[in-house]
Amino acid sequence: MQDMLQSDIDEVVARLGANAQTYAGKTVMITGGRGFLGRYFVEVFSGLNKTVLASNPVTVIALDNLITSKHAPPMKHDHMSFVAHDVIQPYDHAGPVDFVIHAAGIASPFYYRAYPLETLDVAINGTRNMLALAEAKGARFTFFSSSEIYGDPDAKHVPMQESYRGNVATQGPRACYDESKRVGETLCYIYHTKYGTPTTIIRPFNVYGPGMGEADYRVLPNFASRIKGGQPLNVYGSGVQTRTFCYITDALVGFLLAVIKGVPGESYNIGNPRPEISMIQLVEALSKAIDREVPYNLIEYPDSYPADEPMRRSPDIRKARLQLEFEPTVDLNDGLKRFMDWALATYKGTI
Ligand SMILES: NC(=O)c1ccc[n+]([C@@H]2O[C@H](COP(=O)([O-])OP(=O)(O)OC[C@H]3O[C@@H](n4cnc5c(N)ncnc54)[C@H](O)[C@@H]3O)[C@@H](O)[C@H]2O)c1
Repeated sequence: MQDMLQSDIDEVVARLGANAQTYAGKTVMITGGRGFLGRYFVEVFSGLNKTVLASNPVTVIALDNLITSKHAPPMKHDHMSFVAHDVIQPYDHAGPVDFVIHAAGIASPFYYRAYPLETLDVAINGTRNMLALAEAKGARFTFFSSSEIYGDPDAKHVPMQESYRGNVATQGPRACYDESKRVGETLCYIYHTKYGTPTTIIRPFNVYGPGMGEADYRVLPNFASRIKGGQPLNVYGSGVQTRTFCYITDALVGFLLAVIKGVPGESYNIGNPRPEISMIQLVEALSKAIDREVPYNLIEYPDSYPADEPMRRSPDIRKARLQLEFEPTVDLNDGLKRFMDWALATYKGTI
């Protein structure tokens, strides 16, 4: 498991505590199972099976068409199987399914710029197919939506609450991602209200950690690769656009709680609300984490990256705190240190 830290998996297993027993003896189908988040789900379930679920393990079926994860390491665990499948096509499974986690998606702006139609299809047709499976099996369904459904918010809606309806463009370089996630949420609403399917929507806010591919092109792998290669960082636009960053262990605990405790029909922001920082402040935070000055340039958005970026992004997590007992505990400096130690030892420095 050289692409993740065993200590992170152990941390998630420990933090789940008694909640882990809800997964005992159950079957989980996860789409996007070879992606960044999907592989963590698989490793955490495997970690549970080796410890607290050893006598009644969870069975995992991971689906992925590998469109953006061809180089993911192979998955070899007891009670876990991988199926190469494009979820744009319906999928049936002979046995029972208790939880469907639909995490397939084209998440990196670089890739959804390259694959706009596939991005729409996986969040619309893929979500519909997986909802149909959940409905047929009587399974709980969890959809990985995105904080991007809020678009570019007015300052009075920052931090964003789940009730904020967003400010999103139907046309433009980001629309294929943002709008398809919004339709995916609508499909969940329809299945919940029309068929009673217990749906939960997760809106993650910039999750990061070991295991992000060097060619992922989201901001932290991009910066880490250039630091490894001794190159100045390229900060797009003015550099004052803000984000919050949630370390993978915090996010995974939140996701696994949402899957079992999410109120049917509800959506949850999962992220770390503190600190909300600009991209220039992120460079400074990285310098602090690795204990050396990181040089950067402000550049125009390249053609490969969708401009029209939201200027602010910060989650209000009071609902997840109250209903899921979700509480992020890894501060930015600690998380960046864990990520950078791993990235500088793993990446080649070629981006
Ligand atoms: N990581 C984050 O910070 C974040 C933030 C917001 C939303 N999300 C959402 O969470 C989900 C998981 O994110 P991630 O970071 O693991 O992304 P990722 O790109 O690392 O993984 C997604 C996986 O889905 C697979 N996939 C794409 N289209 C598919 C299809 N048609 N059929 C089957 N598999 C397909 C890809 O091959 C990939 O392995 C995505 O839906 C993403 O949009 C993630």
